[in-house]
Amino acid sequence: MTISTASAPTEVIRCPDAVLSLGTLLRTWRKRALLTQEQLAERAGLNVRTVRRLEHDGLQQPRTRSILLLAEALGLDGEERAMLVAVARGPQASPERDDAAGTGPPPIPRQLPAGVAAFVGRRRELMALVDYYENANAMTVVAIDGMAGVGKTALAVHAAHRLTSRFPDGQLFVDLHGHTEGMSPVDPGDALARVLRTLGVLDECVPEHVDDRAALYRSVLAEREVLIVLDNAADEDQVRPLLPAGPGCGLIVTSRRRLIALDGTRTLSLDVLPPKEAVALFTRTAGKERVTDAPSTVLVEIVERCGLLPLAIRIAAVQLQARSTWSVGHLLNRLNDDRLAELTAGPHSVAAALDLSFQRLSEDQRRVYRLLGSHVGTEFGVTEAATALDTTVVRARRLLDRLLDAHLLQESTPCRYRFHDLVRDHVTSLLHRTDAVDDLQGVRFRVVKGLGERASRSCV
Ligand SMILES: Nc1ncnc2c1ncn2[C@@H]1O[C@H](COP(=O)(O)OP(=O)(O)OP(=O)(O)O)[C@@H](O)[C@H]1O
Ligand SMILES: [Mg+2]
Repeated sequence: MTISTASAPTEVIRCPDAVLSLGTLLRTWRKRALLTQEQLAERAGLNVRTVRRLEHDGLQQPRTRSILLLAEALGLDGEERAMLVAVARGPQASPERDDAAGTGPPPIPRQLPAGVAAFVGRRRELMALVDYYENANAMTVVAIDGMAGVGKTALAVHAAHRLTSRFPDGQLFVDLHGHTEGMSPVDPGDALARVLRTLGVLDECVPEHVDDRAALYRSVLAEREVLIVLDNAADEDQVRPLLPAGPGCGLIVTSRRRLIALDGTRTLSLDVLPPKEAVALFTRTAGKERVTDAPSTVLVEIVERCGLLPLAIRIAAVQLQARSTWSVGHLLNRLNDDRLAELTAGPHSVAAALDLSFQRLSEDQRRVYRLLGSHVGTEFGVTEAATALDTTVVRARRLLDRLLDAHLLQESTPCRYRFHDLVRDHVTSLLHRTDAVDDLQGVRFRVVKGLGERASRSCV
């Protein structure tokens, strides 16, 4: 029998004995390692009689420790080691033994967080997502990107709940903390280790190296129909090791950055809500009774002051709901005064969310952002940007592309740019912060340093 690590592992992890016995595996890998039973026993520090009995499937409940010693002695890689341990556990293990060891078959993972109760709109995006996954006959990845608080996670989770019957082997949800206050982005190796454990791989079988973990993850998922939601990814490098390969799997990634360098991925860039849906979100969150007497024009004004951004709308609505003395008119006045300061409720804050996006930029990109903030208006063309940055149009365009990728800038038409209203407020607020005005003087020099490109006329 040939043993292919590419085709067997999923069966092995689930119900190994039906395909391979522990004895067959051991014998095959021992011969591959050119070892006699005696040599293997010596290397593993086991009695040769134990090795013989194992090869003849004469031990009903081999100890995991002995199996791991054998794996070590045979020089098995992480994936093969996991296979050996899984085969050794086998379906013959009694439920009592499994329960006692905490190693029974893992439950089907149902890790999706609860969907947003008052979910509004996004009908077109939802239909496109659900349709795409339901009709896919290969592994499918969609990356949802958009600015902070635009509703990426809400949409991903809502769509994932709709798709549970399409992925009967479970749904995994991993927050990669690409943009989380006080936390660094999760290391992909750590994320893989957690997911492997969820999928039933024993702790001691999780390989050391991230590539081996990724290979085992793909093997375990090869024949399963599992939906994986990777929320809040920092960049492509963080996501790549977590791409499954099995045709039955689906992956939804959310990120504040456009993940353009992930092969075979569809991207869905999420925009702010249309005014009607924005008002519906505000009303549902604040409670109908708080807005019944309010003229609809005031409600529209409020959501527009919130830049039609779901996070901002929710915060404003929560403020109104929490303060019984406030009227909608009063809320609007406050938003007209200093909306960034108003759009904070407990741990939720638009300013903090935007600040995290800003902090994740490279130092040069941060300078470009601030420099634009002090030299251009809300809407501007590439030539104005080039002048503000004191650089060529070609270089300016490339610098602006980086801000577009981070969703701190929008492109209304090719080479016309605009700051979202709340981003405009954020960049303006930076100009008054002492930590942000440090060296704007030196910025232009650094932006142009070493550049010899000629200005392109295509966008001028
Ligand atoms: N379509 C929607 N219906 C109802 N509420 C929504 C909708 N979209 C977003 N929200 C709410 O708006 C807030 C921000 O949404 P969400 O957390 O999904 O944004 P995000 O784009 O994932 O933000 P981040 O970039 O910080 O991860 C949440 O409170 C969420 O419940
Ligand atoms: Mg999110």
